[in-house]
Amino acid sequence: MTAQLIDGNALSRTLRTEVAARAAALKARGVTPGLAVVLVGENPASQVYVRNKIKACEDNGLHSVLEKYPAELSEAELLARIDALNDDPAIHGILVQLPLPKHIDAQKVIEAISPEKDVDGFHVASAGALMTGAPGFWPCTPYGCMKMLESIAYDLRGKHAVVIGRSNIVGKPMALMLLAKNATVTICHSATPDLGAMTRQADVIVAAVGKRNVLTADMVKPGAVVIDVGMNRNDEGKLCGDVDFEGVKEVAGWITPVPGGVGPMTITMLLVNTLEAAERSAH
Ligand code: GUN
Repeated sequence: MTAQLIDGNALSRTLRTEVAARAAALKARGVTPGLAVVLVGENPASQVYVRNKIKACEDNGLHSVLEKYPAELSEAELLARIDALNDDPAIHGILVQLPLPKHIDAQKVIEAISPEKDVDGFHVASAGALMTGAPGFWPCTPYGCMKMLESIAYDLRGKHAVVIGRSNIVGKPMALMLLAKNATVTICHSATPDLGAMTRQADVIVAAVGKRNVLTADMVKPGAVVIDVGMNRNDEGKLCGDVDFEGVKEVAGWITPVPGGVGPMTITMLLVNTLEAAERSAH
């Protein structure tokens, strides 16, 4: 292996220790940072994610509330709950776990969250703030990727960053964050004719597609930084990312593993955003 590992578990431990200290300081001033997590339906993956988010709050001195509803919950009932959480002074962050059942308009629900409590960073106001450089909440996964680059003191100025994937949750905000750090950014997607021709020019590659082996060793410039946002299962049922880790680690300069890379960082940045929301409300 030539690449150095960017360890998301180790970085998360450091950042969560900082969160816990800031949470304790805020608590001493009479404000306990509070996160409400709303889960509708029985999606097994969502249940695991939500459990991990609640546990991370408990472990780091944040108050958390899990609101679980059956899949039959109506959109109006869900919107009424969001209204109540918007008005609840003990709650500083609201997260509605996605996907929602098909009869509920997810974007309408997200827009109902007060932007001051939008710790997922999915509200149009948060997206607009990121785009214009105004204060707001950054989506947790790309924010975590930026922290990983920061942890290796990587200077993005003038570098070519290639983002594979254009989702509202990862690809698009990732591109804006890299741009804000003065990288030259290319966004690739399913209609990109020759992905390898793009990635071979990249100093930094972020793979966020949700498909195994999207990035292989022949597509990577020697020494490049490779960040793997993917969360897939291989034929043996083992967790794997979008990157062919075994091959790419022989070419890249830095690489994030799956598991133990971006995954824990996403939850860590949710804690950071919730704490930030509580600190802003206390000021
Ligand atoms: N579903 C998958 N990832 C996420 C996330 O980051 N936030 C929410 N709310 N739902 C998700």
